[in-house]
Amino acid sequence: MTSNRVLIGIGGGIAAYKVCEVVSALAKSGIEVRAILTDAAGEFITPLTVTTLCRHPAYTDKDFWQPTHGRPLHIELGEWAEVFVIAPLTANTLAKLAHGFADNLLTNTVLASTMPILLAPAMNTDMWEQMTVQRNWQQIQQDPRYHRVGPSSGILACDRIGKGRMAEPPEILTHIQSLLHTKGQRDLSGKRVLISAGGTREHLDPVRFIGNPSTGKMGIALAQAAMHRGAQVTLVHAPMDGRLVESVGEIGRAIAITSAAEMHQAMLEHFSQADITIMSAAVADVKPANYSQEKLPKNSLPTALPLEPVPDILAELGRLKQPHQRLIGFAAQTGDIVTPALEKMRRKKVDAIVANPIDKSDSGFGSDNNQAIFLDNQGRQLEIQPGSKLEMSHHLFDFIKNLE
Ligand code: CTP
Repeated sequence: MTSNRVLIGIGGGIAAYKVCEVVSALAKSGIEVRAILTDAAGEFITPLTVTTLCRHPAYTDKDFWQPTHGRPLHIELGEWAEVFVIAPLTANTLAKLAHGFADNLLTNTVLASTMPILLAPAMNTDMWEQMTVQRNWQQIQQDPRYHRVGPSSGILACDRIGKGRMAEPPEILTHIQSLLHTKGQRDLSGKRVLISAGGTREHLDPVRFIGNPSTGKMGIALAQAAMHRGAQVTLVHAPMDGRLVESVGEIGRAIAITSAAEMHQAMLEHFSQADITIMSAAVADVKPANYSQEKLPKNSLPTALPLEPVPDILAELGRLKQPHQRLIGFAAQTGDIVTPALEKMRRKKVDAIVANPIDKSDSGFGSDNNQAIFLDNQGRQLEIQPGSKLEMSHHLFDFIKNLE
């Protein structure tokens, strides 16, 4: 993470213990973290736990009511933080925020500040589904200052299975990273973004296929970054870890495919409505010429595999592209990455291409990190230093914004 100062407001719910993981991960990544515990949060976890993880004393309402020689604490904290995270957001705190109440340090800090606020609700399903809670939740989302993560469905601490589970720490951390980059701006609001992700599989029978090592992490990071910037996202993805897809499925649309032919069909179906299309998928170049419906026994396997080409999806989208649409390709390369990427950009008629080295350590296929050179058809080149795939995604959307 590149920045800097995050304030965490911890509410009184059992998910408070999971927020400790968020605090710990932020502090370990070099971010300065301060935390406020409500009195109810102090019933679930202790200020000492949070103080130790923050490497800084955690604040409670006792601090708020202390006479001070300096400026009031809620003003200081409000001015200090770049991003405020409220997790778990309880029904009680949600109601206070929706109606502008300020009766403790957490709610006073909200009103005495202007930074973006990320809300991570967590409560029992019946509480979450109450008309009053839903009304407060809808109302608070009218205010662009508030961003949301979760809640998701699953087994709750009260043994119920349903909606109300707090988003998992990695998802909260990803959203914080986005907010530190965007400062809460939703510059893709109203835009439709179509993304392809993962490695296609070209089967020769129900079990065996020709594939590649792509895990889809880059495409998921692009989808998350686009959603955090306010876009409406459609993700067309090859087989990948279901938890990665879930993080997109909550707000966007995720379409699962297996082969290049299926990806081709799904991309063509959605392309005309998209403002920005990014082909980050590692699509096969060839497929077995014959497919057996039944699993082939070992001794019936061919000794040589006849292959035939699959359609070049990006090149076809390049031909269909309208002037208002932006189309971006990826070029996974070894050695000299720029020359072949420029050639692909011209041949496939795309607006920009991401030249992506796959022979560097800790970047490319399967890694959480990546590095690249962005190239556009106006001759711009931008080198992106190694960093997380989410950071690279935000740099790419910044780059796309400036395409002619
Ligand atoms: N691509 C595609 N359809 C294919 C193959 C690739 O849409 N059948 C897209 C990829 O998603 C990527 C871009 O084209 O955005 C470049 O892919 P790459 O495999 O690097 O290029 P190829 O044209 O296949 O060239 P080569 O394999 O010779 O490097």
